[in-house]
Amino acid sequence: AKTYKVAVLPGDGIGPEVMAEALKVLDVIEKKFDVKFARTFANVGGAGIDLEGKALPQTTIDICKASDAILFGSVGGPKWESLPPDEQPERGALLPLRKIFGLYANLRPAIIFPALTGASSLKEEVIAGGFNILVVRELTGGIYFSQPKGIDGEGDARVGVDTMRYSVPEIERIAHVGFKAAQKRDKKLCSIDKANVLSTSVLWREVVTRVGKQYPDVQLSHMYVDNGAMQLVRWPKQFDVLLCENMFGDILSDEAAMLTGSLGMLPSASLAEGTFGMYEPSGGSAPDIAGQGIANPIAQILSTSMMLRYSFAMNDAADAIDTAVEKTLNQGYRTGDIFQNKAGEKKVNTVEIGAAIIANL
Ligand code: NAD
Ligand code: IPM
Ligand code: MN
Repeated sequence: AKTYKVAVLPGDGIGPEVMAEALKVLDVIEKKFDVKFARTFANVGGAGIDLEGKALPQTTIDICKASDAILFGSVGGPKWESLPPDEQPERGALLPLRKIFGLYANLRPAIIFPALTGASSLKEEVIAGGFNILVVRELTGGIYFSQPKGIDGEGDARVGVDTMRYSVPEIERIAHVGFKAAQKRDKKLCSIDKANVLSTSVLWREVVTRVGKQYPDVQLSHMYVDNGAMQLVRWPKQFDVLLCENMFGDILSDEAAMLTGSLGMLPSASLAEGTFGMYEPSGGSAPDIAGQGIANPIAQILSTSMMLRYSFAMNDAADAIDTAVEKTLNQGYRTGDIFQNKAGEKKVNTVEIGAAIIANL
């Protein structure tokens, strides 16, 4: 059997709880598809700080480098929020991982499953017939990473500084990812910017327009991010691919997630050139429900499916997982975040919905 090496980084909060279910799904895929996933566990985030003194220990980087893909849970939580910002789980581990591995293309598919139309925050008539939006988020540039950055000065004379920069090649490569994705879908790409205010956006719009000439079959539109946030809740069906710089994509993907019923439903793939990728739910460590065994593992399980699809070219196995998830929702299984107390719904915990998905695989 072919063997793939997977670095498993459960992290903090609900991370380990939802990761356990995703790993059980991988066990079934191994049996059904004659493949082996050699897993190496590593500490990251608060777990890295507590167990190895650093949010991103060198051992964890080495394990990731020796792997074909990273399966990531989530990091962060109140316990580590008083550390210096650069030592905290988010800025000390998650962002560096994205940078070290060149994971510039973040794909976040927000798809409404028919069984969950009632869990969406939108009226049923707005989402009737469903919607399928792919947020393509630039992940290694923009205001998250540009220098200078920091807090200068003393006391009340301090000034907080963040810088937003985008170079032409950085915009070009993410634009190509967006247009290529649109070609395989409904052939519509809406580029999100704030070109009426931001210089990065003026350049973004110019470069995206130029790259778009190479994709004449894709219908390109531009929208200011404030209007985009409004249009998403007004009429999500108008969108196919949303192309976003780093922070706009962060914000709009959480918004899109809620339209599908819950942040716990939204997977993501963070891709480099080539086949290497990190696969992480779009949501976080959910400290408000961590430790109770009630988190929704579907975002983690669908992220695992994306790993099979994008890093290992195992489309049949990925389809099998996606279908098992849909079937489980059709059978009425719901974790608390998507439970509507409707006829036919069964409120279950993390392990129980995981077991139902596995039974459907
Ligand atoms: P969050 O995404 O952790 O939680 C927001 C809300 O969504 C909470 O009410 C939570 O219970 C709910 N939620 C999220 N995932 C869920 C799931 N799988 N099942 C059920 N409900 C779910 O965002 P936050 O509260 O703003 O941040 C908490 C911590 O997570 C912070 O430290 C933040 O920095 C971190 N964070 C990490 C990642 C990551 O590791 N990729 C992403 C986002 C936030
Ligand atoms: C996400 C998260 C991260 C981000 C944080 C935790 C750094 O919100 O993956 O969406 O902002 O990218
Ligand atoms: Mn986010």
